[in-house]
Amino acid sequence: RKGTSDKDVDYSEGRGSRVRVTGRVHRFRAQKDVLFITLQDGYGLLQCVLTGDLTKTYDALTLTQETSMEMWGEMWEVPPKQHAPDDRELHVDYYEVIGKAAGDKDAITTRVAPDSDPQTLYDNRHLVLRGENSSSVMKVRAATLRAFRQVYESEITPSCLEVTPPCMVQTQVEGGATLFEFNYYGEKAYLTQTSQLYLETCLPSLGNVFCVAPSFRAEKSLTRRHLSEYTHIEAELDFITFDDLLTHLELVMSKVIEIALSDPKTKKAVYDLNPTFQVPERPFMRMRYADAIDWLRKHDIKNEEGQPHEFGDDIAEAAERKMTDIINRPIFLTHFPVAIKAFYMKKDPEDLRVTESVDCLMPGVGEIVGGSMRMDDYEELMAAYVREGIDPKHYYWYTDQRKYGTSPHGGYGLGLERFLAWMCGRYTVRECCLYPRFTNRCTP
Ligand code: 4AD
Ligand code: MG
Repeated sequence: RKGTSDKDVDYSEGRGSRVRVTGRVHRFRAQKDVLFITLQDGYGLLQCVLTGDLTKTYDALTLTQETSMEMWGEMWEVPPKQHAPDDRELHVDYYEVIGKAAGDKDAITTRVAPDSDPQTLYDNRHLVLRGENSSSVMKVRAATLRAFRQVYESEITPSCLEVTPPCMVQTQVEGGATLFEFNYYGEKAYLTQTSQLYLETCLPSLGNVFCVAPSFRAEKSLTRRHLSEYTHIEAELDFITFDDLLTHLELVMSKVIEIALSDPKTKKAVYDLNPTFQVPERPFMRMRYADAIDWLRKHDIKNEEGQPHEFGDDIAEAAERKMTDIINRPIFLTHFPVAIKAFYMKKDPEDLRVTESVDCLMPGVGEIVGGSMRMDDYEELMAAYVREGIDPKHYYWYTDQRKYGTSPHGGYGLGLERFLAWMCGRYTVRECCLYPRFTNRCTP
C-alpha cells in the first residue's frame, strides 16, 4: 500500500511515480475548476489537486470534512511558497469516496466546535481526538513513552529493567481516602495507587526496575491536574543515597526531553503546542521544604485556611503552583515533614522531623514527580504501620524485604499526563491522555 509518506515517491525531475493514497478529508477549498483537498492519514497531511471533470462529480460537489477517500495520481514537488504540506502535492487522476462523513447539523465541526462547552467536548472525546492539537499531544505522548523506555534501558548505569506489576491489590499505599475498592471473590481489594511496593520487591533479583502502569485514585475534587486513572512511570533503585536519587531523576527527565526533541516531528509538535517550552537545565534547583515555607511566607502566599504557612502544613496545589510559576524553573522540593508524607519514607538521619523525600515541581503544573528513600529497617517499618493505623498483616511480603537482606534504596513515580501537560503547555492533564477518567466521568 502506498501511503502519504515520502518513502514511496520518486522525486527525480520533480515528478514522482503514480501512487495510491488513502486518508480522510482534513480540509478542502474549491476554486474555479480546481479542488484542493488536504488529506490526513495519521502520519501526515497531503495536498491533493483535482481538476477538470473530477471537480464536477456528485462526490466532489457534496464533499464533507472527515470523509475517507482513496486517490490515485502523480506526486509533484512544489515550491515552498505554495505552502503545501511537505512541499508536495498529488495530482489526482482517479478517486473514490470510501465513507462519506455526515455534514450539516451532524458534521463533526458542529458537534465539537472549539467553543463547545467542556461537557460536550468530553462526551465527544472520540471526535475531539481527530483534531490537530489533540492528536499532536497523543503523538508527543507516544514519543515520550518511547524515550522513557530508551533512557531506562540504555542511557543510565546501571540500567533499569521493565516489569509489569498487578493492578488489583490488597494494600493501600498513598492513603485510604483515594482508594477504589472492589469485591474480589468475596474479599476486599483495590485498584492500585502505585506499583512502588512491588518494584521494591524486585530489586534483589532484577536490579533496578521501572514500570509504566496505570494508577488509580478516587480523587473527590475536580482539579486540572487530577485524574482517576493515570499513567504512572515508576522506578526503584537499589544501594543508593538520596543524592543519587535526585541526580538520577534530573538525568532521566533531561534525557527523555533530549531524545523526544531529537525527532523533528516531535519537536515541531511540542513547539507548535507550546512555543515557549524551555528545556530544563541540570542541575535542577534544590529547595528544602522548610525553606519553601519561608519563601511562601515572604511572598505572602497563604495556606488553605488563609493563614501564613507554618512548618508542618501541606503545601496545597494553588500555593505550590504560584511558587513554581514565580521561580519559573524545575524545583526539587525535598525533606518534607514525616507527618505529611507516606508511611514508607525514610527519615533524614540528620533531622528526624523530616523525610528523605522529593517532589519535582514544574512551571504551569506543579508536582509532576513524587519520590523518596524507603524505610529499610524492619523495626522502624513496623512502627510506621502502627503510626499510620495500617494492619501489617497485608504487607508481609513488603516487610519481608527488610528481613532478607535489606538495602538502602529509593525511587519515584512520575505522572505521565502531568509531564506532558508541562511539556505541551496544556491547561489540564485531561488533554494528555486518550480518554480521561476523572470524577464522575468514565465515558467514552
Ligand atoms: O506523589 P505520589 O502519590 O507518589 C506515589 O505514588 C509514590 N508511591 C511513587 C513512587 O515513589 N514510586 O504520585 C506520584 C506522581 C505525582 O507526582 C503525580 O505526578 C502523579 O503521580 N499523580 C497523579 N497524576 C494524575 N492524577 C492523579 N490523581 C495523580 N496522583 C498522583
Ligand atoms: Mg505526591
